[in-house]
This record gives sequence, structure tokens and C-alpha cells, in this order.
Amino acid sequence: YTRISQKQDLKNKQVLITAGGTIEPLDPVRYLTNRSSGKMGYALAENALLRGATVILISAPTQLKPPFGAKVIAVQTALEMAKAVETYYSKMDIVIMAAAVSDYRAAKPAAQKIKKRDTTLALQLVENPDILLGLGAKKKQQLLVGFAAETQQLVQNAAKKMVKKRVDLLVANDVSRSDIGFGSNQNEVTFLRPHQKPLLVKKTTKEEIAAQIFDVLLSQ
Ligand code: CTP
Ligand code: CA
Repeated sequence: YTRISQKQDLKNKQVLITAGGTIEPLDPVRYLTNRSSGKMGYALAENALLRGATVILISAPTQLKPPFGAKVIAVQTALEMAKAVETYYSKMDIVIMAAAVSDYRAAKPAAQKIKKRDTTLALQLVENPDILLGLGAKKKQQLLVGFAAETQQLVQNAAKKMVKKRVDLLVANDVSRSDIGFGSNQNEVTFLRPHQKPLLVKKTTKEEIAAQIFDVLLSQ
């Protein structure tokens, strides 16, 4: 039984994980979101629990069952996620932004259902705060992990995010491949760390990737 044989190498550690795709309302019945299933974030929460961590999972809506033993905080929008992360950040040892956070939200969500009128419709969107950028800027003891979803120039684009957001580990995802990633149980990722060579993690389960993320963090 893995729960007993697993090394308790995250015992007494406070781990915060965000997961899922945030949703941004347009009107009372419609919203903007993305293809994130939440599986990677939930797999990270499960693995951290196995290793003995105290886990806070800040989750946008998913179809997944809450990991047993985690403190789960349900949020919908990027602003709600930002606020929830803010509440816990200063006390955390490890923070992993696995959520797919909407870059934009409606400038002014309509109070009533938007009526069909013309042949085209323009939506006015405004930028959401970059949660991970903010965390990187005020990082103290925390080990910070980010993800990057890219459809081109994976390593170059992801490396820029690693530097800009001051993360200790950036997990780069090629989201142009339909056999892995969004919605899938498997993924192939590249780990980027400051001053170290990129490390390819060959196509495997999200559970295995989660385990490798903590292995790498604990070996730094
Ligand atoms: N992220 C965040 N807040 C946002 C947008 C993204 O915290 N408003 C985090 C994600 O959780 C992820 C990382 O930043 O860990 C990278 O997200 P990604 O969408 O790949 O990059 P962006 O910086 O948003 O750039 P772009 O979408 O233009 O590629
Ligand atoms: Ca983005």
C-alpha cells in the first residue's frame, strides 16, 4: 500500500497548489474558460499528500474528486484565485501554479443575459492580474513552480516565463499535441530550472510527472 511505503519527504511542509481553468462570467448564463481539466494540479495534490505534506488546493471548477486530506478552496475567476492564493502565500514552503488562469475577463459582465442583435458581437475584455508574476516578485522562503502552455518554440518561450516570473521550476507543456496535455491522463513536459539544462520528461502519466516535480524540487 503506497501510502505506507511512500517516503515522508514533505512532512511538515506547507504546499499550496492551484488547479483547473478559471472561468470568467460574460453574463448570468455565459462564461469564458479554457481546456484545462485540472488533472495535473490534482495529481500534484495527491502526491504531496502521499509524501506527508499539508496541502491547500485552490481549485477552479473541475470534474475531479477532491484529494482526501487536502484543504480544498473552490474558486471561479482569476481574481478569486488571486485573493485565495494571497491569503496563504506567506506561510507556504512550496507553491505550484498549475491552474490555467484566464489572461482576460469581461470589462463589465452584463447583469442581464446578452440578447442576440447583430451579425457580429465585440466583447470588451480587460487583463487579469498575473498571479505567478506577483508571487515571484515577493518570493521569500517559498519554492515556486510555474507551468507554461505553448504551441510553438516551447523551450524558448517557457524559459522567458521562468526568468520573468522568478520561478524555481518551470514545467513546459506543448499544448499543440493532441495526444497529451489538456484533458489527457498523460503528458510530456520539459523541466526548466535557473542555470540548469532543460530536462525532458518523456510521455508518461500525470501522476508520474507530479512525483518527478517534487523529486526535482527536493533535490535542489
Ligand atoms: N499565470 C498566472 N496568472 C495569470 C496567467 C498565468 O498565475 N493571469 C500562471 C499560470 O498558472 C502558469 C504560468 O503563469 O503557471 C504561465 O501561464 P501561461 O498562460 O503559459 O503564460 P502567460 O504568462 O499567461 O503568457 P501567455 O499566455 O501570453 O503565453
Ligand atoms: Ca496565459
